[in-house]
Amino acid sequence: MFEFYLPIEIFFGRGSVNKVGEVARRFGLSAIVITGKSSARKSGALEKVVDSLKKHGVKDVFVYEGVEPNPTNTQVDEISRIVVERKIDLIVGLGGGSSLDTAKAVSIVSSNEGSAWDYVNYPEGPRLLPYLNRPTICIPTTSGTGSEVNRYSVISNPIRKEKLVISHSLCYPKAAIVDPELTVTMSPRLTATTGIDAFVHALESLTNKMHNPLADEFAIRALKIIKEWLPIAYREPENIQAREMMSYASMLAGIAIDKKRVALIHAMEHPVSAHYPSVAHGDGLAALALAVTKFNYQGNPRKYEIFAEVMGEDPKPHKAVDAVEKMLKSVDMLISLRDLGVEKEKLERLTEDVYMLARNTFSINPVEPSYEDLLKLYEEAF
Ligand SMILES: [Fe+2]
Repeated sequence: MFEFYLPIEIFFGRGSVNKVGEVARRFGLSAIVITGKSSARKSGALEKVVDSLKKHGVKDVFVYEGVEPNPTNTQVDEISRIVVERKIDLIVGLGGGSSLDTAKAVSIVSSNEGSAWDYVNYPEGPRLLPYLNRPTICIPTTSGTGSEVNRYSVISNPIRKEKLVISHSLCYPKAAIVDPELTVTMSPRLTATTGIDAFVHALESLTNKMHNPLADEFAIRALKIIKEWLPIAYREPENIQAREMMSYASMLAGIAIDKKRVALIHAMEHPVSAHYPSVAHGDGLAALALAVTKFNYQGNPRKYEIFAEVMGEDPKPHKAVDAVEKMLKSVDMLISLRDLGVEKEKLERLTEDVYMLARNTFSINPVEPSYEDLLKLYEEAF
């Protein structure tokens, strides 16, 4: 038995960014475009979006350029106030995971009571009023997060040094516009770090203990594509076919985690970038992936067998470790927490945070970790 619900219209393909005006016009006459500090402007993506909106009658376009990597609750609250004050009809998120997650969180916060932090880790329920949130359109300019096709918004609280997730069906964008041409300006390093995020989404959704065979199909296909095309996109940034395949794989993996969630690699990464906001999500995942896979594979041998086989290894659970290592190596991402600037004396604090804040992940992780296990894993990844 399984369920599958995805209330998002997907527009995929080269040049699809130009459809944003047509799609947005259905939802209103005023829009906010939420994006990062400069890359969407430099690449020309921002101009394309604004032009398309105006051309199709969305005349009142407010641009917010300034989403930081690892977006914060205070920033979501600040943008939400702008949206309410200006009575903006719809929200367009343009950029990497940070911009998309911010847009999704703003959609909820600007339409309901309270502030962003009230909504993290909040289960489905009557706290949120489903008919009230503003429509959101997500346009990724990286290929990794998959945020354009799922219900998650990851938000950091710099005061509490916590990074938690708003996970709710209200968080689904109304539309995802996935245009691979927007990703060609990514540097090799950014291509690798975001690609590894997509890889870990597929790996963790496939191998965790939740059951959803249809989501597994998405994860398996994503893994096959990433194995073949991520190294090419990394070496040849302008190879549009590689970009197209990575945009597609990232989207598939984003759908897979919507249905089956992620697992311990993500749970352990969030405290790292919460305490070290300059650490990119994908880099933190890369540093942890190998140690966690070694720890996990015996807990769900059949799935790790499938994973190993999909990645071109012998279909044996322990071969999953080799597969992860080779994947990381192929894009120069065999890195440690120390390489990322994590301090040894912080490992205990990171362990406490995972233990206190991410317990809901433990039961679906292939092996349920103890406090000591978590500390050992951080030490191994160090
Ligand atoms: Fe992720």
